Amino acid sequence: MPGNRQVVIANVPTGPLEPSNFEVREGDALAPGEGQVLCRTLALTIGAGQRAGLQGSASYAGAPVSGVVMGGTGIARVEESRAPGLAAGDIVVAPTGWQELSVHDGAGLQRVEAGIDPALQLGVLGTNGLTAYFGLLEVGRPKAGETVVVSAAAGSVGHIVGQVAKRQGCRVVGVAGSDEKCQLLVKELGFDEAVNYKDPGFRAAFKAVTPDRIDVYFDNTGGDILESALFRMNLRGRIVCCGVVSQYDTSNPGPGPRGVPGLLVNNRVRMEGFLVFDFAARYGEARRELASWIERGELAPRVTEFKGLEAAPRAFVELLHGGTIGTTIVRL
Ligand SMILES: NC(=O)c1ccc[n+]([C@@H]2O[C@H](COP(=O)([O-])OP(=O)(O)OC[C@H]3O[C@@H](n4cnc5c(N)ncnc54)[C@H](OP(=O)(O)O)[C@@H]3O)[C@@H](O)[C@H]2O)c1
Repeated sequence: MPGNRQVVIANVPTGPLEPSNFEVREGDALAPGEGQVLCRTLALTIGAGQRAGLQGSASYAGAPVSGVVMGGTGIARVEESRAPGLAAGDIVVAPTGWQELSVHDGAGLQRVEAGIDPALQLGVLGTNGLTAYFGLLEVGRPKAGETVVVSAAAGSVGHIVGQVAKRQGCRVVGVAGSDEKCQLLVKELGFDEAVNYKDPGFRAAFKAVTPDRIDVYFDNTGGDILESALFRMNLRGRIVCCGVVSQYDTSNPGPGPRGVPGLLVNNRVRMEGFLVFDFAARYGEARRELASWIERGELAPRVTEFKGLEAAPRAFVELLHGGTIGTTIVRL
């Protein structure tokens, strides 16, 4: 029986996440029961929202505990099947967690085409691409000619939001944490403007790149960037509350921004949160459309890759510190 290396939560973080919050251990051998499959993880994706999952009750995922395998989504190959409709060699998307092997009920698994790169399946065709697609198009509802602003713009969700808004005919402004990221957004991903929120002159620069103010603000960060956007919203603007990454890597999230609800009232702004799972019935349709945009060269997804299961904690820390671009993938 093959071994099963696993990354477990050694201790729940009380301050900024560190690799030492995790440890690698050898897990017990696994065998699938009736209706189940044994899977070998090929690649994992790490998302910023997983840090919220380690924060406790504020997250929809519930309170975190130590001593368990870190959760997460992976692309895996079926090694052994006792489930109808699945055979050894099939490739599936599964809640593998950070481990080499995992057992799942066959009924809940999604089979994917073997020839497609796991980085694509986990990135733009996975949860974060779908989040960008539905959050922007269904919650933000941008119209051609409108100004769309997105924060964490070079990240997994953000870089797709900006490119989809561009193909909707919008003027797109990205907010990111380095000049290199801002350059990439404009020069390679087609954003009209990008501003670095870490620059001391951010507020003035932000104002300068939104001369017609903002119609749709896609908020991945909350915090100061959300506050800046609130003060620039147009009449009947929409704020898409996707996530709050500025408040994840801490045990003491800051208070909400100024301007709520006063500015929402005055400008009749709609501020709406969503979870991508709300749109689960339409994932197939969205994946087909996103794939067709990639094929036509209208969408260029990016990934940052790490090699080996042991790299997962470091990849997570780097993601939170702005060290990755696009979707963060760990290949096993
Ligand atoms: N609603 C849903 O269903 C749903 C589903 C998936 C993801 N999400 C949310 O989508 C957001 C993006 O997730 P992701 O996985 O795509 O992560 P990501 O954008 O790839 O990575 C997070 C990025 O946030 C930026 N960041 C870190 N600290 C920040 C701070 N204090 N202020 C501003 N920016 C900061 C960093 O880039 P910089 O270099 O720019 O700082 C970092 O690279 C998260 O809020 C996540 O929770 C929501």
